Amino acid sequence: MKLLKVLLLFICVNVSAQQGGMWIPSLLKGMNETEMQSLGSKLSADDIYNVNNSSLKDAIVHFNGGCTAEVISSKGLLLTNHHCGFGQIQSHSSVEEDYLKDGFWAMSLDEELPNKNLEVTFIISIEDVTKTVLNGVSDDMSPKEIQSLIQKNTNGLQKSFKKEEWQSTKVKAFFKGNQYFLFVTESFEDIRLVGAPPSAIGKFGSDTDNWIFPRHTGDFSMFRIYADKNNRPAKYSKDNVPYTPKHFLPISLDGIQEGDFTMVFGFPGRTNEYLPAVAVEQITQKVNPTNIKIREKALKVIDAAMKTDDKTRIQYASKQASIANYWKKWIGENQGIEKSNAIAKKRTFETTFMKAISKNKYKKHQTLLSDFDKLYGDFEPYAVKRSNFFEIFYRNNELMQTMFRLYQFEQRVEKLKLNKDETKSATAEKLKEIHDTEGYKKAKEYVISQITRIQKNYNANVDKGVFEAIMPLYDAKNSNSDFYNTSSFTNLTDALKVLEGTSNNVITAINNDAAYKFAKPYIAEFYNDLEPNYQRINAEIAKVQKQYMKALMEVLPSDRYYPDANSTLRVTYGQVKGYAPRDAVYYNPVSYLDGVVEKHIPGDYEFNVPEKLLELYKNKDYGQYADTNGKVPVCFLGTNHTTGGNSGSPAIDGHGNLIGLNFDRVWEGTMSDMNYDPSICRNIMVDARYILFIVDKYAGATHLIDEMKLVHPKKK
Ligand code: ARG
Ligand code: GLU
Repeated sequence: MKLLKVLLLFICVNVSAQQGGMWIPSLLKGMNETEMQSLGSKLSADDIYNVNNSSLKDAIVHFNGGCTAEVISSKGLLLTNHHCGFGQIQSHSSVEEDYLKDGFWAMSLDEELPNKNLEVTFIISIEDVTKTVLNGVSDDMSPKEIQSLIQKNTNGLQKSFKKEEWQSTKVKAFFKGNQYFLFVTESFEDIRLVGAPPSAIGKFGSDTDNWIFPRHTGDFSMFRIYADKNNRPAKYSKDNVPYTPKHFLPISLDGIQEGDFTMVFGFPGRTNEYLPAVAVEQITQKVNPTNIKIREKALKVIDAAMKTDDKTRIQYASKQASIANYWKKWIGENQGIEKSNAIAKKRTFETTFMKAISKNKYKKHQTLLSDFDKLYGDFEPYAVKRSNFFEIFYRNNELMQTMFRLYQFEQRVEKLKLNKDETKSATAEKLKEIHDTEGYKKAKEYVISQITRIQKNYNANVDKGVFEAIMPLYDAKNSNSDFYNTSSFTNLTDALKVLEGTSNNVITAINNDAAYKFAKPYIAEFYNDLEPNYQRINAEIAKVQKQYMKALMEVLPSDRYYPDANSTLRVTYGQVKGYAPRDAVYYNPVSYLDGVVEKHIPGDYEFNVPEKLLELYKNKDYGQYADTNGKVPVCFLGTNHTTGGNSGSPAIDGHGNLIGLNFDRVWEGTMSDMNYDPSICRNIMVDARYILFIVDKYAGATHLIDEMKLVHPKKK
């Protein structure tokens, strides 16, 4: 009896210690199903993923490739984060009608706002296609040969794969290229904005609270999928109708308690759990710190400008948010790696691995770790500089981003010339004909669309300030910004003028532009030196990483393995749980509206609480949305293993109901992208009841509440 107790205890402890993992929804039978049930789930693997019947997966969509959203009504109503719909909310906003500031609520279907370039994608089925994709591939082939064979196999597979005409297929690599899956997908592109709270709720706490707990952000927004009369994907049309989903998530009014089962179902973007210590060291000690510095400088300029006037604030809202987001994430990631001794732990693990392979005579694996050491050594200068290059010439500065696009345009036009053998002997007349054909027109249209997009929210003064702040970090000797005064690319009208005319004239004009003269040598260096070297070594690293992954699973088969995130649909699960970020400090897993009011700073750009919300609080006008303790829950923590892309993912209870909306992780836990540690890695979710409370009591959008299905799973 005693022994049994000890055994049981061991199993329980082991379960919670082992949490973590982003699992493939079609492969949950067995270990995952059992583990989920031991954590309190009543769901079967078939309830979650089933190709023949509707299942939870039919309510989940990839939201514009970067976030997740879920269907929460029979009329295609979608729930996602405020920060996921941010770009759309911003693009419908002006100084006069500022939906970022005031929020937006469509009070009927015809008030819902269409969005350009927004699509959502359902996963219809998932199939293991490893055999076909790796057919003929062997270890002694070069990375290049392997890549092109895989590409060929994949193309063949996709061509012959049976699907409906409105569906698409996608093949993705898992376990570092040891396994491949094919996804049949269905994408809808008539997606309309239904509602968003004001930023003072949806982005409450802004950057100060970003990646932080205790958190009080109501980070949600709502959209709706529209389809044609046959319920199929269709381009925007006013004749389209709300989509009828195969499944939608009911919403639980019973809430959560510490220890409750939670599952987060969505599209995590990218993780790297099986890196060698040397790689983690390079990322955290070389790449992150330099990028953090660049963004810190850029943000100083942008933040100051946004506070000066409303137009700039709206213009820079999305840009600032995305720059600030990863700036802060990298800082947290570095802290977490250091605090948890992750690098030393990886080294210890690598010693264990080396011992295991000597014992088991896995001779062929013996050089893997020393191969990594050598390759990462060669890689470092390129990895750091390439990453910094993108920060300067792409992410943080828009004139430089324009130059980057122009350079690509020039290369494309060059290629058009060189493609034709006749070019060498052709007459001037003939040359002109070749250059100004379809290919040239397409290239020009493309670059014009890119520049137009950049110019949409362009502010030359702020951009110049950013340039002056960050360029010295790339090249201390050359950061004179005078070309901002003469370049034609600081406004759209002049930029488009430069792009008028025959290819020769246009290329000459671009090359005469002062900004281009400045940027071209750096961009050329990137394409001629940085990028080819980076890609060459990276391909070799990928080859070793593939073998290392395979070796780990072969040599230490009882360890826990799950494929790294790759923007495909995954299930992750855990429990509602607090954590101790530092000595003597413990965070309860649930935050309440009381905390919103505690943080209130009247007039502050991050912590001002809207009058109406203060009033609801004062009158305790909570409707059916308060917890049994009489308080309105706002956010809660879980041990679900999530990453960027999981934003907007539903948090689902053990019965398949929505209980929350994933939107963030705790700061120290962001290292989970390389090192998931159950003791400090937590995801942050908005409580579903806070969302309902805001929609109902704050916004008065009761027609949306009526459309949803609210349930009481705990009061059966
Ligand atoms: N940290 C969350 C995520 O990675 C929320 C970001 C919202 N942006 C912000 N700058 N506050 O997407
Ligand atoms: N906010 C993130 C996103 O946009 C999710 C948070 C995380 O990285 O875990 O996906």
